[in-house]
Amino acid sequence: MISYRTGKALDLDAVIDLYVASTLGERRPVGDRARMQRMLAEANLVVTAWDGELLVGISRSLSDFAHATYLADLAVRVSHQRLGIGQELIRLTQVEGGPETMIVLLAAPKAVEYYPHVGFERHDSAWVLRPGQTCRRK
Ligand SMILES: CC(C)(COP(=O)(O)OP(=O)(O)OC[C@H]1O[C@@H](n2cnc3c(N)ncnc32)[C@H](O)[C@@H]1OP(=O)(O)O)[C@@H](O)C(=O)NCCC(=O)NCCS
Repeated sequence: MISYRTGKALDLDAVIDLYVASTLGERRPVGDRARMQRMLAEANLVVTAWDGELLVGISRSLSDFAHATYLADLAVRVSHQRLGIGQELIRLTQVEGGPETMIVLLAAPKAVEYYPHVGFERHDSAWVLRPGQTCRRK
């Protein structure tokens, strides 16, 4: 049986292991422990899924608990995928964010079909300023 917890008091190595075991580690700085530590420490809404004592899923977000929750990372171990864990992590993230809060995210290439499948709406005016890109000045 899978259990769910809210909170970011997690073992960093277990979190990094989960990112790798889900394949999301291909797109996150798993080789840079200090940066991964900051990513965890500065997130303010983290929901995790557990198979006994094994960390099998994570939803890591930044929320203002009033208007918007940015779901930065959603990851489930390959061994535990397609069991509904991702959906439950999203549901709990939405509950924790509060009823007036929308969830916003950028889908990783492997998950572009996932989000519409579970009910997300595509947004045609999402914009990103990537590291190193600068906002034009007057
Ligand atoms: C994307 C991910 C989080 C989904 O988690 P999951 O627990 O496997 O998904 P769920 O069990 O909640 O799936 C719910 C439904 O979506 C479907 N689904 C799962 N992964 C899918 C995918 N990649 N593309 C399309 N549909 C998918 C399931 O078959 C299921 O469909 P059903 O309800 O019709 O049976 C997980 O596959 C993962 O960690 N992927 C690698 C990391 C990644 O890309 N994360 C997203 C970062 S934005």
